[in-house]
Amino acid sequence: MTEIPGELRGKPISASRTTLSHIMTANDTNLLGTVHGGVIMKLVDDAAGAVAGRHSGGPAVTASMDEMAFLAPVRVGDLVHVKAQCNWTGRSSMEIGVRVLAERWNESTPATQVGSAYLVFTAVDAEGKPREVPQVIRETERDERRYQEAQIRRTHRLARRQAIRDLREERSAQGLDADV
Ligand SMILES: CC(C)(COP(=O)(O)OP(=O)(O)OC[C@H]1O[C@@H](n2cnc3c(N)ncnc32)[C@H](O)[C@@H]1OP(=O)(O)O)[C@@H](O)C(=O)NCCC(=O)NCCS
Repeated sequence: MTEIPGELRGKPISASRTTLSHIMTANDTNLLGTVHGGVIMKLVDDAAGAVAGRHSGGPAVTASMDEMAFLAPVRVGDLVHVKAQCNWTGRSSMEIGVRVLAERWNESTPATQVGSAYLVFTAVDAEGKPREVPQVIRETERDERRYQEAQIRRTHRLARRQAIRDLREERSAQGLDADV
């Protein structure tokens, strides 16, 4: 039997959980005067990338970002906290769940959730080829729920990708879509 290296056997979720905080300024606004969604998405990608790098112990690239939800506008002067954790691991991929919270930078009112997202990162080696990651160790019932929900999303992602591939092959075999 092949020996599994110690660092690949498992790593607790708390070991890589990360929060990235940033005050929104006039540079971050869209034409409506609120914060641009792309600014929030970059912070989400940055926080998730830090978690993926920490969990996998090396470089990891964004493979996909899905279900980015914006629940409320973010304004100039908001202190935004982007909280990310590894929800699930496969062989070389990790699903990172992210919650975005905002509070006024100079008020002691509680932060409210303004967004959420799920990203898949793939750990890569020096040649950019996928490499194995440690399995994620769930520590709480909430971690367990998130793991199970991530497994559902993974199943749906793969099924959707396969269904689209099948449809394209079928249409191509029928000589359709020759103009694209
Ligand atoms: C992500 C990438 C490394 C995958 O490489 P690949 O040769 O397709 O590798 P595989 O098909 O073996 O997939 C490797 C893993 O990634 C997952 N994966 C690949 N593409 C994915 C996608 N679009 N969505 C979700 N997961 C994906 C696979 O399910 C697999 O997971 P597993 O090992 O846990 O089962 C490659 O597509 C890549 O380099 N993409 C560009 C990444 C990038 O530049 N991101 C933006 C800047 S950081």
